[in-house]
Amino acid sequence: MATTGTARSGAGTATVARLTTPALVLDRPAMLRNAAAMAAHVERLGVGLRPHVKAHKCVELARVQLAHGAHGVTTATVAEAVAMVAGGVEDVLLANEVVSAPALDRLALAARTASVALAVDLPEQIGLAAAAAERAGSVLGVVVEVDVGMGRCGVRDEAAVVPLAGAIAAEPALRFRGLMGYEGHCVDEPERALRAAQAGEATAKLARAAALLADAGLPAEIVSAGGTGTYDLTGAAAAVSELQAGSYLIMDEYHASVTPEFEPALHVVASVISRHGELAVIDAGRKAIGTELAPARVVGHDAEVAFTHEEHAGVRVRSGDGPAVGELLRLVPGYAPTTVNLHAELHVVEDDRVVETWPVLARHGTV
Ligand SMILES: Cc1ncc(COP(=O)(O)O)c(C=O)c1O
Repeated sequence: MATTGTARSGAGTATVARLTTPALVLDRPAMLRNAAAMAAHVERLGVGLRPHVKAHKCVELARVQLAHGAHGVTTATVAEAVAMVAGGVEDVLLANEVVSAPALDRLALAARTASVALAVDLPEQIGLAAAAAERAGSVLGVVVEVDVGMGRCGVRDEAAVVPLAGAIAAEPALRFRGLMGYEGHCVDEPERALRAAQAGEATAKLARAAALLADAGLPAEIVSAGGTGTYDLTGAAAAVSELQAGSYLIMDEYHASVTPEFEPALHVVASVISRHGELAVIDAGRKAIGTELAPARVVGHDAEVAFTHEEHAGVRVRSGDGPAVGELLRLVPGYAPTTVNLHAELHVVEDDRVVETWPVLARHGTV
């Protein structure tokens, strides 16, 4: 099951130097500052917060977010949703369409003990979700996903929203909850004015869909949108009731390029295993550091990642001595969501002390 693994407290003497490399570490003070900053932002913006937990896949971190302004969590997979419910999270939105009957059965079982919702964008998905909820004797919440510009899932035509909502409302085992629309096409737009314009167009689509629903007597209780790159723009839109931003808590190089106001808290610690001139070779490659959307950044040295292989990366020292063989190197991952799943555990650190070790859950699509 997805919920294997238990949290362990640091043994007092545990230090980063004692970790087997490569290791995933999280700077607790920085993470808590990010949590508090987002709590203050959503309070100021007057919007709800339902952070996407795909970034960390860790129920202890979900609890930190719930203690800092969040009323529930967002997940990408059934496995994440089930793991969050098993960990005590009471309100989960699976921001995705699901049509696999066994997966829907797992989700519907989780809905026996928590509020669980998923997304639809076609009529045939509604019957599948209803059948699973009936089998489990539970009620699944359902939101209609609107394509707000990313071109992935989501209804293309706003006129499809009301008929879908009506079909959901007609199913006794389903509960129509509202709308979601993730503006993934513009969350990383570097130019803020352009990002604001594109996010504004995206939220306008959601506002139009919400107005159609209200006119049809099917008001949207939830209008869920937004990522770390657009939290302040999408969060200011009147139509949006909650933000799905999640990476703000731990951060990575990809998100730092757009929202440097949040601190990099997640690192991969690697050992320098060889050194040849300006090249330091470390024991962390693609199987330890996610570099999907940005290269990793070396901390504490004027050095850059020159290449990434399966179990090695080459770090080119630009100036200074650089790290010696045997030295530990910290790297900020390029992309946290494709880094955490490469590790079974996340070590929570304060300075060089390991204060806690938490399991990374639902690391693969189905477990
Ligand atoms: C559906 C959905 N919502 C929200 C987000 C934003 O997450 P983050 O804040 O981690 O970038 C994503 C990221 O891919 C997503 O797919």
